[in-house]
Amino acid sequence: MLTTFVRPASPADRQQLSNLLFFETRMHRHLDWRQPLEWLGNPFYWALDEGNHITAALACPPEAPTIFWIRLFVFSGQWRAEDAWSLLWRSAREEIAQAGGAQVAAIVMQPWFQNALAMSGFENRQNIVMLEWRYQPWVRKEAAGVRLRKMEPADLPAVERIDSAAFAPLWQNPQTTLRAAFAQALYASVAEAERGIIGYQISTGSGARAHLARLAVHPTAHGRGVAHHLLSDLLTRLTHHGLGKLSVNTQSDNASSLNLYQKFGFARTGEEYPVYVFDLRG
Ligand SMILES: CC(C)(COP(=O)(O)OP(=O)(O)OC[C@H]1O[C@@H](n2cnc3c(N)ncnc32)[C@H](O)[C@@H]1OP(=O)(O)O)[C@@H](O)C(=O)NCCC(=O)NCCS
Repeated sequence: MLTTFVRPASPADRQQLSNLLFFETRMHRHLDWRQPLEWLGNPFYWALDEGNHITAALACPPEAPTIFWIRLFVFSGQWRAEDAWSLLWRSAREEIAQAGGAQVAAIVMQPWFQNALAMSGFENRQNIVMLEWRYQPWVRKEAAGVRLRKMEPADLPAVERIDSAAFAPLWQNPQTTLRAAFAQALYASVAEAERGIIGYQISTGSGARAHLARLAVHPTAHGRGVAHHLLSDLLTRLTHHGLGKLSVNTQSDNASSLNLYQKFGFARTGEEYPVYVFDLRG
């Protein structure tokens, strides 16, 4: 009889994992700029091994030091989602707790994953909502004493500081993630005041549509029109290049950003995904 056990996934598993990812449709992947195999070599990556054959895998490398997003959960057809999940989660939970993790989270798109997470005590406290802007006139406003310019690679440390100050820990992006977003940017800009960078946006794009991947303003500069300025400039550039659509995702309880986007005429697309969070510190 084959023994089934959970073990760390390593770079030597690349081919097997690549096959599993290619052939299996039962897969949760995090909505971001990274590929699931990129995380191989990270200690928070586990494989379910049956006689040297990987039949399921889970990756949740830390984002900020105590925040672990589930980047990948994949399992072959022989498994029920809950069974593969329970086995992998038991090891993951223990090791993440030992490493000082505070929260494990996932943006869930499939009902089978939602059930597995709820069964393990994950809670849905907010949702990710999708909005879209289609060309329409907007009010152009500039923030006093603020200059906008294209983001440069050397700006990334300052951009990370803004990101950490502006977002709650669960939603902060470290420099590696911001660097990956910046590398794929169609247009990335920073807002500078006398004291330096106080806000930024990164937008990606393909074909006729663009996506506002990240927007943040330092809390000490909130309410002065900096986000309005950044967004107004972005829309000017997009329309200049013939792009008439811009999508964005935000949290269902983020009133400031929902108001901001509604002001420019963004409308909800109806797509909405629950965020499930497990608190390891009780
Ligand atoms: C959302 C955010 C970018 C707004 O930045 P800002 O520079 O303070 O926004 P502005 O001063 O340009 O305000 C523009 C509009 O946004 C809305 N808004 C901004 N702050 C708000 C608040 N605290 N409450 C309600 N609405 C708010 C308003 O509609 C405002 O227009 P008004 O001033 O005419 O009422 C900022 O709060 C932030 O960085 N938050 C954390 C990161 C984040 O949530 N990013 C977006 C999610 S993807």
